[in-house]
Amino acid sequence: MPQQLTECRGMSQRGKGEVPDEGLGESVEIWGAGAELDAQERQPLGESLDEDELLVTSLRPSRFDEYVGQDYVRGNLQIGCNACKRRGEALDHVLLHGPPGLGKTSLARIIAAEIGVGFKSTSGPAIERAGDLAAILTSLGERDVLFIDEIHRLPRIVEEVLYPAMEDFELDIVIGQGPAARSIKIPLKPFTLIGATTRSGLLTSPLRDRFGIVHRLDFYAVSELTRIVTRSAGILEVGCTPEAAHGIAARARGTPRIANRLLKRVRDFAQECAQGEITVEVAQQALDLLEIDSCGLDRTDRAFLSMIIDKFGGGPVGIETVAAALGEDSETLEDVFEPYLLQEGFLARTKRGREATDRAFRHLGKVVAQKGGQAPLFLEE
Ligand SMILES: Nc1ncnc2c1ncn2[C@@H]1O[C@H](COP(=O)(O)OP(=O)(O)O)[C@@H](O)[C@H]1O
Ligand SMILES: [Mg+2]
Repeated sequence: MPQQLTECRGMSQRGKGEVPDEGLGESVEIWGAGAELDAQERQPLGESLDEDELLVTSLRPSRFDEYVGQDYVRGNLQIGCNACKRRGEALDHVLLHGPPGLGKTSLARIIAAEIGVGFKSTSGPAIERAGDLAAILTSLGERDVLFIDEIHRLPRIVEEVLYPAMEDFELDIVIGQGPAARSIKIPLKPFTLIGATTRSGLLTSPLRDRFGIVHRLDFYAVSELTRIVTRSAGILEVGCTPEAAHGIAARARGTPRIANRLLKRVRDFAQECAQGEITVEVAQQALDLLEIDSCGLDRTDRAFLSMIIDKFGGGPVGIETVAAALGEDSETLEDVFEPYLLQEGFLARTKRGREATDRAFRHLGKVVAQKGGQAPLFLEE
């Protein structure tokens, strides 16, 4: 209870704008960094965070015209941002969903930059208490963007604070407990909440309903990823032929973050084992060394599919079972690995569990499971 009181006191001071948000701003940034960490931790190619952070900040597009692909989403957001800027209003709350590495965080930053407002970043699991969120909300400036990554992991009690904040720009806080409890309302400056999630299905419907703009990001076409690789090679100041850029893009699982990681690994290889220039041959050798195959599948993808085929007769098998057998976390399999395997038709999701498709059998050079009484077939892709 005393803790609750302290929080509220701090909050109302900030609400009145008497206390500059030094300490607070700092903690918001730490939460932001935590959000990145969380996303990074679940990457298929595990690398150190420091390296990644540097890569992410330097290669991240900062304006709409640097943001490649997602034309529909980008076009609509651009119109929204321009209109809000002209009217001097806050943009409607935005929900971005889609697999990791497709550019949700980048888009959120771009929106703030294009409207010309402040940007604060945090993540669902980092906000444990209602007071944490209240402190962040009261520290926001007029029309600022608050980015909440992994918003589906916000604790329910925190989520409830968000409802009136999003709808009426006010906080509804209960101070004290029992008969002495009373509720106070604190007005907030209009702001834009941008939520990002890899699992829109886990969002509660009252929360989802409060977003005026909802967009899903899709995997990128190879031609788009080629443009991203070419742009990144320019920033990293490494020579890369158009064919090599295409080769890297083709194996990046439709994901810009992976395209940039592969580029960086190939650059290392080019500098250590070739003349520094990325040619098709160099890219090919480097990617082979990384065990990224022609479809962009890495070791974990193949282990995932092989497990279903070899140990569970091709499926159907529950995701928890496969995860346990692989020693992986089922959430990671679902969020990071599955979406691409599903989209490319290596995996099927049925009511009874996951099933490896014929394409998966062929790709891994396995004997296709006997179907409809036919003799088993050995196929190669
Ligand atoms: N549309 C894009 N154009 C260029 N680069 C992109 C694009 N989307 C993502 N990237 C690159 O991929 C990285 C990861 O994107 P990010 O926005 O962090 O993805 P998410 O938040 O969806 O996981 C960025 O740092 C950036 O380098
Ligand atoms: Mg992100």
